[in-house]
Amino acid sequence: MNQRPSVLLVDDARDMLELLRRNMTAMGLTPFAANNVVDAIEVLGNSQVDLVITDLNMPGIGGLQLVKYLSQHHPGLPVLVITGYPDLNNAVEVMKLGALEYLVKPFTQEELRKAVENVLGARIVEAEAEDDVPEVFHGIIGRAPAMRELYRTIERTRNNRATVLITGESGTGKEMVARAIHYNSTWSAAPFIAVNCGAIPDQLLESELFGHVKGAFTGAITNRAGFFQAADGGTLFLDEIGNASPAVQAKLLRAIQDKRITMLGATKPQQVEVRLISASNNDLLAMVRQGTFREDLYYRLNVIHMQLPALRERTTDIPLLVDHFNKRFSKELGKAPLRFPPRIMDTITGYIWPGNVRELENMVHRLVIMKDRTVEMEDLPAHMKMQAPQPASTGALTTLAEVERQHIRRVLEATGGNKTKAAEVLGIDRKTLREKLKGEEGP
Ligand SMILES: Nc1ncnc2c1ncn2[C@@H]1O[C@H](COP(=O)(O)OP(=O)(O)OP(=O)(O)O)[C@@H](O)[C@H]1O
Ligand SMILES: [Mg+2]
Repeated sequence: MNQRPSVLLVDDARDMLELLRRNMTAMGLTPFAANNVVDAIEVLGNSQVDLVITDLNMPGIGGLQLVKYLSQHHPGLPVLVITGYPDLNNAVEVMKLGALEYLVKPFTQEELRKAVENVLGARIVEAEAEDDVPEVFHGIIGRAPAMRELYRTIERTRNNRATVLITGESGTGKEMVARAIHYNSTWSAAPFIAVNCGAIPDQLLESELFGHVKGAFTGAITNRAGFFQAADGGTLFLDEIGNASPAVQAKLLRAIQDKRITMLGATKPQQVEVRLISASNNDLLAMVRQGTFREDLYYRLNVIHMQLPALRERTTDIPLLVDHFNKRFSKELGKAPLRFPPRIMDTITGYIWPGNVRELENMVHRLVIMKDRTVEMEDLPAHMKMQAPQPASTGALTTLAEVERQHIRRVLEATGGNKTKAAEVLGIDRKTLREKLKGEEGP
């Protein structure tokens, strides 16, 4: 798989960093993000970076010092400087130090794109020409553009330990992606340890994560390693990170910053080398804005961000997934795969899948168990048929009343003529439904 250029973004302003991240992804680059220079230098130390975009004015060490550092330690690495305070002296100085472009805030997306193209142009064009991305990647099914982008980003994590944050609705495959990152990496032979941060009580999480020594607390009768030690050399997957309490967030931050952990009750810290992958189906950035998730930890965990698309955003992959699960489950059950006629497949593709791939997987599993040959309309769950798109019969525009009539008919059909259920689905009371049906049954 061809690699796309990667770009390290450095800015202390949260919104600017996210804006840059979005723009870089849209341009086909893989963004790494850091909200301060110290973290940025760490990323540079362990990842291959093709371009750096940095802010100048930041608390602590400023962008100018980063540019200086880059010219000494990474000569030839293209640097694009962004600043909110245009200052000719600064501009001259950063250019002398080797920055190739200087962009003043506020800038348009177009100006940003031009500036990036100026320093990287040829390489972007190269990356766009490739199209050899597979449609199955470590068991992940999907060839929609968002999925290909995902595989490229996973490829980018192969040889470094940059932290990864995976976000996406429930059932979109976050855990699957976390495993793919691990098994695609240089450290695939080392352990992959998954921890559900929401499932462990607060008092226990610290000893679970970092381990404890004998006598650390009542009941600690032996030394016991924590998840960090168990994952040493490999990957620690922190699932549902949004549920980590403030105390645990603070401990995690310290562990990441120091790269050392201290077992509960121990006096000496120990060194561990782990890649941290976190996942969340809440909007962590919104939690940062609300003050319920630490911003410093957010950026520490989120050097690389992978946002998984909802299934309804990649409908072209739905038949692929149906086929995959159909084959898998029928093989497990020793049956021939089911047939999904086009009309059925259309209905399945038109559904909004609030539970995403997991919901689809469960439905196909159920069908393979219940059916023997061909899937029929009546085999699909009622709520799915209600959402089926209208067949564009005549293509003519209809009145609202007509749309309502058709919709009521479909809901009734789906509920097997049960008016109480239909009224409930439609969000109206039985009496109103009866009124509406009177017109329907009229001459
Ligand atoms: N792209 C995919 N290809 C094949 N199977 C998938 C894909 N995405 C998800 N699945 C399957 O769907 C199920 C849910 O995936 P997973 O557990 O990774 O989702 P999740 O995002 O972690 O969900 P949650 O937020 O509820 O924990 C699993 O059985 C997984 O194998
Ligand atoms: Mg999960």
